[in-house]
Amino acid sequence: MLRISVLRLLGYSGTRRVSRHYGSGSQCTRDDPQDTRAYFTTPIFYVNAAPHIGHLYSALLADALCRHRRLRVPRTAATRFSTGTDEHGLKIQQAAATAGVAPIELCDRVSAQFQQLFQKAGISSTDFIRTTEARHRVAVQHFWGVLKSRGLLYKGLYEGWYCASDECFLPEAKVTWQPGPSGDSCPVSLESGHPVSWTKEENYIFRLSQFQEPLQRWLRSNPQAITPEPFYHGVLQWLEEELPDLSVSRRSSHLHWGIPVPGDDSQTIYVWLDALVNYLTIIGYPNAEFKSWWPATSHIIGKDILKFHAIYWPALLLGAGLSPPHRIYVHSHWTVCGQKMSKSLGNVVDPRTCLDRYTVDGFRYFLLRQGVPSWDCDYYDEKVVKLLDSELADALGGLLNRCTAKRINPSGTYPAFCTTCFPSKPGLVGPSVRAQAEDYALVSAMASLPKQVAEYYDNFQIYKALEAVSSCVRQTNGFVQRHAPWKLNWESPADALWLGTVLHVALECLRVFATLLQPVTPNLADKLLSRLGVSATERGLGDLFFLPRFYGHPCPFEGRRLGPETGLLFPRLDQSRAWLVKAHRT
Ligand code: MSP
Repeated sequence: MLRISVLRLLGYSGTRRVSRHYGSGSQCTRDDPQDTRAYFTTPIFYVNAAPHIGHLYSALLADALCRHRRLRVPRTAATRFSTGTDEHGLKIQQAAATAGVAPIELCDRVSAQFQQLFQKAGISSTDFIRTTEARHRVAVQHFWGVLKSRGLLYKGLYEGWYCASDECFLPEAKVTWQPGPSGDSCPVSLESGHPVSWTKEENYIFRLSQFQEPLQRWLRSNPQAITPEPFYHGVLQWLEEELPDLSVSRRSSHLHWGIPVPGDDSQTIYVWLDALVNYLTIIGYPNAEFKSWWPATSHIIGKDILKFHAIYWPALLLGAGLSPPHRIYVHSHWTVCGQKMSKSLGNVVDPRTCLDRYTVDGFRYFLLRQGVPSWDCDYYDEKVVKLLDSELADALGGLLNRCTAKRINPSGTYPAFCTTCFPSKPGLVGPSVRAQAEDYALVSAMASLPKQVAEYYDNFQIYKALEAVSSCVRQTNGFVQRHAPWKLNWESPADALWLGTVLHVALECLRVFATLLQPVTPNLADKLLSRLGVSATERGLGDLFFLPRFYGHPCPFEGRRLGPETGLLFPRLDQSRAWLVKAHRT
């Protein structure tokens, strides 16, 4: 300890070895060029209970980011996306004991529920990991061996509070006393409210304290490492406080459900070290192939597990001679009717029911449109119905109907755009000029939309990307309303060119909306693009060019036949919500 303090006084951040490897982390802020790889991860989910909407939200955020990236960089080999289940630890051991089943039986059952849910919800992951797999044990034990060989693990007496529900150690200041079920005062975690117990045992301990300054330097030179910004500052704040060494094993007699410490069967590896290494197992660690994906990684996590990902994990990686992850995207939580979701309150929202009620695309849209990563969001059914009816059924579906209805578009085509009716320069006057100032505002908003949406994705503001799309949908409906194509006549030469132009512009807007909505509502976007006659190779973001004829370029869609009519884009929910009315009466 004395040696470390002296080195610190001399301006060293820890051992020289730590500093040397820390250097490579500073490459992280580079922007993704087209040919680099990107690796997205969700947290791996505990299998002590069935999935709820919060879990689905974590996975959906990662899915949307990943799908957006695939539209930008279509090479399939360039993007990887992992999810999985966290199956070891005291929490699972205790849940299995309470349920009277073997831990692996519980893991098999609940892991399958997560896999089914994610499949149903269209989570486009390329990898699914279970921490009980043999490949993971190999990776974790290898990682342990590297830390050991670098002198970063030592054996010592650990004494303190442990919270099995959160699987973490807590300092005295983070523990409070509350009346328990039998009325006696019980110690609980101040943050989560979960019970804690006093633990005193000999464990392996990781020299976390040596990484305080390397972590600070990594974050200061990578201001984008943690998004949104308040979480970045929060982590820097934590790093101002004392960073004690971390116990990374438990007595096997107490915790048997886990990976044994290599060469010491009397100890089981701490579940968080085990869980975090999943991100490396997926990409082939310890085989050298993992280096083509690391550290080009984006971890998507909830705020409750920020410390594990932004402090413990980067420190463990630096300790093992690896760079910290490229980016950590943090989201807040869903509450239900103003309360925290919990089994004991009986208010857990089952995502499978929601996907059935609101459709896969409807529920995906709701969670991503309403979920704001920086703060907690409240869930209730009426909110879902109101949002989906107004934005997907009425605004977007209505717009499609208005441009494709037989009465207005009898030829069922993408009509021609007339540059005389809608000249590229605003303010021109002439007998055939029909475009008005607001129409130019629409074109300008639409032209910048894809870039704006991409920026929102980069900043982890998918809700803002959807808000921007929704605002342009409203503007497009205003455009159609203003020019009332239903009042124009195809037979009149004076009307026909303008009528075709109005429909052309509105269809172009719809094409851009559908292309941009693909990461969030993949099925609905596919239906819309197919209806517009847009082929599979014309749906990427790289060549998304709005209204080319306005800018003097040929338009590949002009004159094209629309795709077949396949019914309402998104049927209104309030007609069919007998279950909602019933839910209110009870
Ligand atoms: N097993 C750990 C993660 C290990 S990653 C190496 C874990 N699992 S969890 O099942 O408890 O949580 C998984 C994710 O779900 C976390 O990102 C967590 O924040 C998220 N959510 C859990 N409850 C949530 C809400 N009520 N709302 C939104 N997300 C929430 O932690």
